[in-house]
Amino acid sequence: MSLQLGDTAPDFSAVTTVGPITFHEWAGTDWVILFSHPKDFTPVCTTELGYVARLKPEFQKRRVKAIGLSVDSLESHQRWASDIQETQGQALNFPLIADADRKVARLYGMIHPKHDELYTVRTVFVVDPQKKIRLTITYPQTAGRNFEEILRVVDSLQLTDRYAVATPVNWHSGEDVIIVPSLSDGDAQKRFPHGWRAQKPYLRLTPDPRGAAQAESSTAEFEFETSG
Ligand code: BEZ
Repeated sequence: MSLQLGDTAPDFSAVTTVGPITFHEWAGTDWVILFSHPKDFTPVCTTELGYVARLKPEFQKRRVKAIGLSVDSLESHQRWASDIQETQGQALNFPLIADADRKVARLYGMIHPKHDELYTVRTVFVVDPQKKIRLTITYPQTAGRNFEEILRVVDSLQLTDRYAVATPVNWHSGEDVIIVPSLSDGDAQKRFPHGWRAQKPYLRLTPDPRGAAQAESSTAEFEFETSG
């Protein structure tokens, strides 16, 4: 059976471009984005790896570590890294797993034989500091990923782990959020002193609670409003 949300991300040892690692130990107390690439020296992957390297400051802000995987040898990865630097203007700055024997790819279900029998598809696993899988996305080999979308979901996960909220369609950090329906209006009043705007009893919008403490001005707009 494939890995599901809430499962513990399987631990493994692997050779990578930054040396041998044991996954859980390497992850430490950070969040992780583990993602697979079909093969070295392929054009879409080359653009993705350069882009992820450029996003490093965004990962660091969120305490996220990136780690890629491709089912080729370490020597091949090292040669490919020069091409990435040359064509993308950005050196690799995170580990790339050399999974030539496909051990990790099989452990994580990264090979979808009806799509390609030999090479991995573009999987993404977001793993939290407790090593639980919190997001999985699978893309076909021909479509480069949108890593801003993956960071957006990390923002949502980190926020909703701390507060009794969910994030609406196309939400970005700082925008209004939804108070979870399981919270009564009475409890919501205690937890969201800036109030909310209720479009329906189950659809209560409130300012991003991390920003709300500083943004006193927004209280005029949000009152303890209920809608029948
Ligand atoms: C690529 O990374 O460019 C790629 C890999 C497999 C199939 C098509 C494109």
